[in-house]
Amino acid sequence: MVVVFSIGLTLLLSLWTSTTSHQIPEGVLQMECRDRYFMIAVNLSFTGEDPQFEVVDEMGAYPITESYGAQHGYTVRILLSQGLVELRASFFSHHTSSQDDLLFTFSFNLIVSRDGENVKFPLYKTCSPTLTWAPREVTCEANYMEVYTYATSEWQVALKRPGQLMIPINISEASRRGYEFHLTEGRLAFRTPYGQPDSFVAPVNGVPVEVVHAILFSRQGWIIIKVDLLAACSMRKYQNGRFNGQLFQ
Ligand SMILES: *[C@@H]1O[C@H](CO)[C@@H](O)[C@H](O)[C@H]1NC(C)=O
Ligand SMILES: *[C@@H]1O[C@H](CO)[C@@H](O)[C@H](O)[C@H]1NC(C)=O
Repeated sequence: MVVVFSIGLTLLLSLWTSTTSHQIPEGVLQMECRDRYFMIAVNLSFTGEDPQFEVVDEMGAYPITESYGAQHGYTVRILLSQGLVELRASFFSHHTSSQDDLLFTFSFNLIVSRDGENVKFPLYKTCSPTLTWAPREVTCEANYMEVYTYATSEWQVALKRPGQLMIPINISEASRRGYEFHLTEGRLAFRTPYGQPDSFVAPVNGVPVEVVHAILFSRQGWIIIKVDLLAACSMRKYQNGRFNGQLFQ
């Protein structure tokens, strides 16, 4: 009887220690739904100065590096003045799941260093957009441009630059070149990091704007559907203003 009791107590104790060591204290973590993205903010005094994030889906976990984030729809910023690290994930980010574009689920790990070891905190957030979707929307994030529109199935894409011949490529080839297309049940998102080889600068009201013009073709039986996706973001938006080696102030 005594033996059984002490085993029970040990088990209880070890369960207790393992859960408490993996809990995030109250008030440290904020997870919010914004119009078109998830906003996660964590107190730097909890994470330390070099917090890492991984996106998670049913296939695995993917570290959010600078280039991975720009291509797949994630933005990580350290906000020193506010003492926060902020992670923003587009509703159409690569590993976010969508149910009819009405409910989006974003799963991720927060990884912090404790005594030289990485500790992972698995987290998730669901959001239902309250703003209705416009037929076409453009988002200018800190590290990428994104366009959403209505969509259907198999696509070929051509990236159009003024005065140049367009050569259609398939979606996987486009993704290899850094252009990301993401198809949910009812919507197509197109995302590109800034400064891609097929983007160009055009002045709009005297302001230099970075433009990417993708044209999507889909053959459905005898019909060819064409979707024009034009992303244009003001070049004043991003910090270094570097574009194809030229510097814009
Ligand atoms: C972060 O945590 C520290 C220490 O617990 C606290 O003083 C500070 O107000 C917190 N900052 C934010 C932005 O919540
Ligand atoms: C897409 O295009 C690339 C390069 O032209 C080709 O190697 C690949 O097989 C194509 N993929 C599909 C799914 O058609």
